[in-house]
Amino acid sequence: MTKLKCMVFISGNGSNLKNILSNIESGFIKDVTIEYVVSDNKNANGIKHAKEHGIKVLYIDNNYKLISGLIKEMGIGLVILAGYMKIIPKDFMKMHDGIIINIHPSLLPKYKGLDTHKKVLDNGDNHHGASVHFATEELDSGPVIIQGVVKVNNNDDISSLRGKVHEVEYKILPLAIKWFSENIVSKHGDNYYYQGEKRTSPIILL
Ligand code: GRF
Repeated sequence: MTKLKCMVFISGNGSNLKNILSNIESGFIKDVTIEYVVSDNKNANGIKHAKEHGIKVLYIDNNYKLISGLIKEMGIGLVILAGYMKIIPKDFMKMHDGIIINIHPSLLPKYKGLDTHKKVLDNGDNHHGASVHFATEELDSGPVIIQGVVKVNNNDDISSLRGKVHEVEYKILPLAIKWFSENIVSKHGDNYYYQGEKRTSPIILL
């Protein structure tokens, strides 16, 4: 079986990258390799996880053309935005439509952009969570594949919410990658398909 070649974009800690790598190692995600880790930040802590696994690391320096070329040349079948904080040019997103997924720390379409934990607290929400979605030209848009929900308690603050949301991210991102690699989920046009059926809402992990 040919393996699905992936590229993971990070900017910071890379705990999601680390978690993807452990899920490949444990065999939960099968027939998938991480060929490249791409970072816009030379000092990203997450780079060490890539190096520990002998994965090539590319510093992007706004050269999306080079990355695009590599995706085609190397047959990269999935691009995973796992804590990538830069806005990616629209032409790049358009060119690779259907093979880019993003993890976002909110229950989309609520709270696109930054500071999602603060927004949840400011609004007194009872629930918060994370979403994995097919990424499109519009920031934090595109059909949501799966969401993980967490409860917000009275004593939660930004740091505790960040921790809870990370825990749920460590479940939903590997699942979305597994489903993509097994052709269980796909994007055609503006729609997301799960086992060949068009879905109008995400799968929810409670
Ligand atoms: C995650 O919460 C992700 O949803 C957001 O950035 C954070 C990255 O965390 N886009 P890490 O770098 O994987 O630890």
